[in-house]
Amino acid sequence: MPLKLTVIGTGYLGATHAAAMAELGFDVLGLDIEPHKVEMLSQGRVPMYEPGLEELLAKHVAGFEGSSGRLRFTTSWEEVGEFGDVHFVCVNTPQKHGEYACDMSYVESAFSLLAPHLRRPALVVGKSTVPVGSAARLAAMLTELAPVGADAELAWNPEFLREGFAVQDTLHPDRIVVGVTSERAESLLREVYATPVAEGTPFVVADYPTAELVKTAANAFLATKISFINAMAEVSEAAGGDVAKLAEAIGYDDRIGAKFLRAGIGFGGGCLPKDIRAFMARAGELGADQALTFLREVDSINMRRRTHMVELAREAVGGGSFLGCRIAVLGATFKPDSDDVRDSPALNVAGQIQLQGGQVTVYDPKGMDNARRLFPTLGYAPTALEAVRGADVVLHLTEWREFRELDPLALAEVAKRPHILDGRNALDPVVWRNAGWTFRAMGRPAA
Ligand code: UDX
Repeated sequence: MPLKLTVIGTGYLGATHAAAMAELGFDVLGLDIEPHKVEMLSQGRVPMYEPGLEELLAKHVAGFEGSSGRLRFTTSWEEVGEFGDVHFVCVNTPQKHGEYACDMSYVESAFSLLAPHLRRPALVVGKSTVPVGSAARLAAMLTELAPVGADAELAWNPEFLREGFAVQDTLHPDRIVVGVTSERAESLLREVYATPVAEGTPFVVADYPTAELVKTAANAFLATKISFINAMAEVSEAAGGDVAKLAEAIGYDDRIGAKFLRAGIGFGGGCLPKDIRAFMARAGELGADQALTFLREVDSINMRRRTHMVELAREAVGGGSFLGCRIAVLGATFKPDSDDVRDSPALNVAGQIQLQGGQVTVYDPKGMDNARRLFPTLGYAPTALEAVRGADVVLHLTEWREFRELDPLALAEVAKRPHILDGRNALDPVVWRNAGWTFRAMGRPAA
């Protein structure tokens, strides 16, 4: 009998994991506490934009013509407890209000609601990003609250998916990391991940704290890499150098690697910023805060990029105030191929300029609804061209392909002044300058 899996929490991580597990051939029951999410997913619709996810759902959600029928959704904990051999906990761990630490309340609540329904041996697998030490505590809680006692076991299996590539990253991960305390847990997880492991995905077996740390360490490293190149952008700008060339040149050293070396307005989103902060907070609790003080610098370099962009925009409109100026902002999401605007550097810059008196008009291919909800007072345009119409300066703040394919000649005709700032080092300066634009990119020479 193939294992029966449940997935608790159907956000980016959970919805993708549930669909991917059905694709791997398992019967899957997804749970969310929000009935409208369950209803949407049961109709094969996804509450966010993630390429390929709706197609994967439609392929497996029960009730669709031609679907495998292996995937269902519910709000019932009892049903989940009865159904699953393995339960994946995929709820989110946002930053606590006014603190660096992460908010564990969704994780705690998921465990305390699930455990009383575990009446037969089960493996609960935590996938949420949590402070190191959480797994040991949650394992004890499971044994205490589950009717089946010590036969409700815990494993920690961090998730490394990137938004925009969530389906691909879940079906073909670059590594699988499991924190376990028994052979039974390890062998159940080997069964779950048999397909990617057979394709060559490394399967790393560790203890709880190491598995928890792998996730935060990986995100801290990525954040550091981005802030490193952004620090080089600051120095390049001061010295008249070109950070894009510099990144290309150091990237050929395969110990360094070319990825994650794009300078610009920095990282945002629901993971990197809050994860490095929660990591610092947890290290502090453990008495190891000195080890991570560099992450404070990583965070400040990153936040400085946003202010620097505002300053470049101010220079572009004459150096004084933004009053009476129209600023076009291309991009609202924190990265392309996503509709996620959480801690988006683009919207942060747009908001700062508006607060300083500028008239800001934003356009984004997928993030408009979420952006409007978060910043209802910004101006919004239905197309890039309309956003640029009448603008004194254009800011390119999220590197969507659509923006690289824009026609600079057509935009120059509608802009008040053809002046563009590339906050993502993704546009071709030559093309824009040839079309008559004053083009400036972060960390690169002005002309
Ligand atoms: C990240 C991790 O990559 C992923 O492994 C983890 O599971 C969750 O957090 P994600 O939040 O989807 O994924 O975004 P990512 O692709 O890492 O980009 C983060 C931010 O860094 C974006 O705002 C992006 O624009 C920015 N970035 C990325 C840069 O500024 N420069 C780069 O070179 C790369």
